Amino acid sequence: MIWYPYAQMKTLDAPLKIVRAEGVHLYTEDGHDLIDSVSSWWSVIHGYSHPEINAAISGQLEKFAHVMLGGLTHEPVQKLSDKLAEWLPGDLDYCFFSDSGSVAVEVALKMALQFNTNRGSGRDTILALEHAYHGDTFKAMEVGDDEDYHFAFGSSGEKKRGVVHIPTEIPALEKAFAEYGDRLTCIIVEPLLQGAGGMRMYDVSFLERARQLCNEYDVLLIFDEVATGFGRTGNRFVSDLVLPDILVLGKALTGGYIGHAVTVANKRVWDGFISDDPTHALMHGPTFMGNALACSAALKSIELFEREDYMLKIRRIEEITKREMAGFSDPRVREVRIMGGCVCIEVTDAKTLDGFRKFAYERGVFSRPFLKYMYAMVPYVISEGELVTVLDVMKEWFT
Ligand SMILES: Cc1ncc(COP(=O)(O)O)c(C=O)c1O
Repeated sequence: MIWYPYAQMKTLDAPLKIVRAEGVHLYTEDGHDLIDSVSSWWSVIHGYSHPEINAAISGQLEKFAHVMLGGLTHEPVQKLSDKLAEWLPGDLDYCFFSDSGSVAVEVALKMALQFNTNRGSGRDTILALEHAYHGDTFKAMEVGDDEDYHFAFGSSGEKKRGVVHIPTEIPALEKAFAEYGDRLTCIIVEPLLQGAGGMRMYDVSFLERARQLCNEYDVLLIFDEVATGFGRTGNRFVSDLVLPDILVLGKALTGGYIGHAVTVANKRVWDGFISDDPTHALMHGPTFMGNALACSAALKSIELFEREDYMLKIRRIEEITKREMAGFSDPRVREVRIMGGCVCIEVTDAKTLDGFRKFAYERGVFSRPFLKYMYAMVPYVISEGELVTVLDVMKEWFT
């Protein structure tokens, strides 16, 4: 029996069985052709079955699929870490690979906490955002603030000990630093766009102020760009606008091909672990970190991103989306939000979206609204016609 995600198994609707996927299309066993409007949880930026990524993986497969990084290394992981060091802004040069976004968040938090322990600091508090989502492992749930995902584990008390949640407002940020500043190890944010917490968008000035305060109070700034990285907000990385100390990437890292993630530290954080004292080492090592197939897919994915000017593609998606959504309104809609390759229609009552998934399916679109949010995060290779179809289906639901 398969235990499916985020679902009550007693009442689960049968999932669609996919037999083939190509470009932005999913093909079901019973003959449906669906445009994937959510890019398999926001990861498949080049679409499915991309010939060059397929070839990159096959080529590596002929050499070997995986060797551990404990005592061993290999060319794909070396090349990927070199590429990331060159490609990412500032001195975000030190790559710790892992197998999922949640684990990469764990690693980032562990780095920040141990960075402080290593320097003999007793700081013990983490600043995080209201409505944050950072994954489903335990520390990620603690810095997360989403009862809709983690209700079974309580909302306060023990679970949140040592974590302070604030809204994305500068006065609240300043107040938190004034109150907790000398106890803070780090602040972790999904920069500009909070995904699973409801596609909430906020201004870069909040991040700029966070950077200033982190400098002033000697606190590490962590950007969880698992969802926002690789262009989703219309910026290559939000880290291009404001430089964090630790950056977390996942999802689109491998073009959505193979679960892999990376926690990238700057020189200062790295130096905090370099010591003659063995207890200052970072004690973490997922079995599949730096998997050779994943690294090969990631290298090809980044090559395509640069070579085919994906930032232009994303600007086009944003322009078309703004054009198509202009003038759209409905009394049941609370707000329409658009940023880069993300559009969200937030309704006032979650019941308004009951049945939308089936409605979209019948019109050739795979959609997965959640709570009060109907959204699209399409693969960047989508054609104008396909994107207009997705947006039309979203609007038609209200007419
Ligand atoms: C911002 C953010 N961080 C972390 C994660 C967790 O990533 P994974 O599902 O690969 O563990 C997600 C997943 O949606 C995410 O959106």
